[in-house]
Amino acid sequence: MNKEELKKMLTPIQYRVTQENATERPFENEYWDNKEEGLYVDIVSGEPLFSSEDKFDSGCGWPSFKKPVSQDSLIEKTDMSHGMARTEVRSRKADSHLGHVFDDGPGPEGLRYCINSASLRFIPKNELPRVYVTRVVDWEAIEFLKRYFNVKVYGEDSAVPRDEFLDRIKDADAVITVPTDRIDTVALDAGRNVKIFSNCAVGYDNIDVAEATRRGILVSNTPEVLNGTTAELAFALMLGCARRVVDADRYTREGKFREWSATKFLGYDLKGKTVGIIGAGRIGSAFAKMCSAFEMKVIYHNRKRNSDFEKETGAEYAVLEELLRESDFISLHPPLTESTRHMIGDKEFSMMKRNAVLINTSRGPVIDEKALVRALKEKKIFGAGLDVYENEPEIEEELKALDNVILLPHIGSATKETRRKMAMLAAANVYEVLSGRTPKTPVTE
Ligand code: GLV
Repeated sequence: MNKEELKKMLTPIQYRVTQENATERPFENEYWDNKEEGLYVDIVSGEPLFSSEDKFDSGCGWPSFKKPVSQDSLIEKTDMSHGMARTEVRSRKADSHLGHVFDDGPGPEGLRYCINSASLRFIPKNELPRVYVTRVVDWEAIEFLKRYFNVKVYGEDSAVPRDEFLDRIKDADAVITVPTDRIDTVALDAGRNVKIFSNCAVGYDNIDVAEATRRGILVSNTPEVLNGTTAELAFALMLGCARRVVDADRYTREGKFREWSATKFLGYDLKGKTVGIIGAGRIGSAFAKMCSAFEMKVIYHNRKRNSDFEKETGAEYAVLEELLRESDFISLHPPLTESTRHMIGDKEFSMMKRNAVLINTSRGPVIDEKALVRALKEKKIFGAGLDVYENEPEIEEELKALDNVILLPHIGSATKETRRKMAMLAAANVYEVLSGRTPKTPVTE
């Protein structure tokens, strides 16, 4: 078998294990004195087990490691056969003996292991699979990845310039992307070794998934963890528009609040109103439940009728035209596809109620933004709350001059808790794939 065939058969880490002479067992001291950064892997399976950071001096002369919190490759088996508990450590993947749990048992940093050095092989950092991260969403996720891989990050808090992106992914085995990175055929050509593009977002319209799949490259996203967070932002926009929170704030700051008024800033109640949800996915479902708690009637439209959504939320299905005509509030939650692009335009605005409020926390191009400007200027609808735009970060100039629209800078998932969960999930998807498994949350076309 030649090198290329072997490379295709094995995970990136397994391949690197075979690069060394697997029959030659290193001496314990070789590990013990080793100050290099890198990864200790199970010699049989190539499974990543410990990083150089996990090593500590147990004084027992064997390589000793702390079990990192995220480590899931090890199993412990307690053997009572000699009349005493002796906990053995085995590798989950190869189910091979590795060593035993250090006598003290779990310490503050987790379990401590004494490992038989013949079970391990050390891979120096520069030989580990390479991961490129285009944007640091959360440092904890980067620290996790650094335990197992050779990680490079784009250090600025801005989108990586396209040329630099194409250059950096040339020798990457995995790439963590964000919605501002475009993964088209040019990027797929550049990233010849990439096994996975792990998008740190639930939406993946920035990635040509069909072409990646055709080339055998995996794509993953970060669903579920941001459902409630994005639904809450949609709800905040809905309340904000209904009660004119933002233009009333502006008015107050401008020093115009001189006396209480009986007629200024009159909005609408949510209670008793009909809310129409377009897109019966997980964010739409979280949003529907919030609306029910506010005693609203919930109807929904989706490409296909969804009985699970109906059971979970109590929402009633409506065809699009019916939803547009009946709803007092409309919230958009579909993915961006060729069939949802511009699904709300002049025709749809003309069907809406004059008191209707339109909320968009999905993707900008779902709305024809020029038609929205016309609808708001001509007061065909009461207001709109937008977190996303047709040509982000550009926004129709006229929108900025209008009082009946709230404009946010794409912050649907922007809470501290959720961004951390998204970053950890994106990192876990990379970890799984570079360890020879499938991503936790793959995207399939
Ligand atoms: C953000 O827009 C996302 O898709 O998660």
